[in-house]
Amino acid sequence: MPPPGDTAALWPLCLAVARRRRRGLPPTADSTGPLAWTTGGGHALSGEWDAAAQALFALLKPLLDRQGAEADWTLGQLGQSLDGCIATHRGDSCFVNGPEGLVHVHRLRALCDAVVVGAGTACLDNPQLTTRRVPGDNPTRVVIDPSLRVPADARVFTDGQAPTVLVCDTAHRPQAEARLGAAQVVAVARDDAAGGLLPLPEVVRALRARGLRTLFVEGGGVTVSQFVQQGCLDRLHLIVAPVVIGAGHPGLQVRRSDAMADALRPPARTFAMGADMLWDLDLRGG
Ligand SMILES: NC(=O)c1ccc[n+]([C@@H]2O[C@H](COP(=O)([O-])OP(=O)(O)OC[C@H]3O[C@@H](n4cnc5c(N)ncnc54)[C@H](OP(=O)(O)O)[C@@H]3O)[C@@H](O)[C@H]2O)c1
Repeated sequence: MPPPGDTAALWPLCLAVARRRRRGLPPTADSTGPLAWTTGGGHALSGEWDAAAQALFALLKPLLDRQGAEADWTLGQLGQSLDGCIATHRGDSCFVNGPEGLVHVHRLRALCDAVVVGAGTACLDNPQLTTRRVPGDNPTRVVIDPSLRVPADARVFTDGQAPTVLVCDTAHRPQAEARLGAAQVVAVARDDAAGGLLPLPEVVRALRARGLRTLFVEGGGVTVSQFVQQGCLDRLHLIVAPVVIGAGHPGLQVRRSDAMADALRPPARTFAMGADMLWDLDLRGG
């Protein structure tokens, strides 16, 4: 009897699902395979798999199941401390979470069409936003930088590892296009009624028009919170580490509730991730 499959054996099957979706193909041609699309809709895992592989499949299934017309979907993540911080007050976030959480973030990058970060993260971390911790394709990188404060020599704009789209306000369009070319720029008008923020439904529409349908909003706290506040996030992975940072960069910040009855209480699942705990929040559920 062969040993049960593990996460290393499962991962290429998950990648294959994402690659088919990206190419506009139906979920799977082989309904007898170990990870197959069922007639009821949704993927099912068959055969013998160890507990870690089964947990990974359960965690990724909502993402893997977004196919065809349902591929327009946005998932966010924040790695946070017990006191709700995603970095120290100086912006040090290396590392809030353990290695398992970091691998998870790279997996999400590999399974989505684009990874989105705010200007704060792009400035403070100078990230690459690649999938170097797991086998998989680098997603398109998207930086929300309304007034072009991220340096032009930031790695996402210069390292050539994947395409990068710069999202700015319309006033900065000419400057952004001169720097990167029109194909790499999405410019939207600020919403004066909302304090000059960029309307994210418009940003998401513009990205989808470029074929970037399944989006992964990786941070930081301001950006993920804006996606939640503007109703643009379908699901959120909060990875809580047993660490207390103290008055650092805040994670999720949403509208204040007067009464507990008004509080956001989405359907939630938990997954152990090394010493951390991942909360999978279904923001469209309930
Ligand atoms: N632990 C984690 O999971 C994690 C993940 C990512 C980053 N981080 C850490 O988080 C820190 C940065 O996070 P942060 O919350 O301060 O910043 P952030 O979310 O990365 O960037 C916020 C900025 O992005 C722009 N922005 C985003 N959405 C916008 C919208 N709808 N309209 C207009 N502008 C928008 C604004 O730029 P302007 O201010 O220029 O207008 C805003 O101030 C860094 O220390 C980084 O290391 C942690």
